[in-house]
Amino acid sequence: MSYQTLLADLENGIYTITINRPDKLNALNKQVFTDLDNAVNEISSNPQIKCAVITGAGPKAFVAGADITEFSGLNKDEAMALAKRGQDVFFKIENCKKPIVAAVNGFALGGGCELAMACHFRLCSENAKFGQPEVNLGLIPGYGGTQRLTQLVGKGKSMELQMTAHLIDANEALQLGLVNHVCTAESLLERTKDILNVIMSKAPIAIGKIIECVNVAVVSDSAYTNGKSGYDKEVEAFGDCFITEDMKEGTTAFLEKRKAEFKGR
Ligand code: COA
Repeated sequence: MSYQTLLADLENGIYTITINRPDKLNALNKQVFTDLDNAVNEISSNPQIKCAVITGAGPKAFVAGADITEFSGLNKDEAMALAKRGQDVFFKIENCKKPIVAAVNGFALGGGCELAMACHFRLCSENAKFGQPEVNLGLIPGYGGTQRLTQLVGKGKSMELQMTAHLIDANEALQLGLVNHVCTAESLLERTKDILNVIMSKAPIAIGKIIECVNVAVVSDSAYTNGKSGYDKEVEAFGDCFITEDMKEGTTAFLEKRKAEFKGR
């Protein structure tokens, strides 16, 4: 699969997606959304791909936001359609059954912070900077940021970050729980892949069920929860895991004191 604005590389089950507009600090234009949409389809449908990393090209930015040049002249309906398109692609990332992790290698602002937050979790480099500076443009976050930032850092801090447009550095992002790990720029991708290698040694169906259940805990939109509570979903997913070959393999391997070999069945 090739893309106009992304570089993609599949190695040992890990699909590395690099947003590749470094001269525009990887800003998200329409084509990036088309390519990201296609990339998530590829992740879901290609059995060789077990998990994915999203990062940005160049040393400066993960993604510096939605492409502001595409904002001019939009009417209200067009602006709403732009936000809906961004939300839909990010929902697709969030609900992908295979892990998608953000390796934030610099500025993650506006839509860039929203993209990182739509991923299942985040690592960042020491030079990373996060923020929702839309209010500087007379705007608010439109790709899920008002919701996901609140889920991740709590209401008060989310309000303050959005209202002040204040940027936070990697250590503050770590303290707030916005990222799980801070690494040197040189080790960021390697560290991300180390974690993904651990995840890939586990049962893939169970990993997909964890994604589904955790998402129900934080996604308030009933369209995505089918009206079920997270606890109901967990009971059902637990039952689904019970009838997999991998569950038999995992429990048998434990009793036989050997390492389980999962097949994703
Ligand atoms: N949309 C479109 N273009 C963007 C962009 C965005 N969100 N962010 C950066 N760019 C472009 C700049 O216009 C510039 O292009 P040019 O060289 O053709 O003039 C290029 O990327 C480099 O950015 P520049 O501003 O020169 O880099 P800097 O190091 O001085 O500043 C930032 C970096 C991130 C602080 C600054 O680019 C910025 O504030 N970007 C916008 C952030 C934002 O408001 N995001 C939310 C959008 S809703």
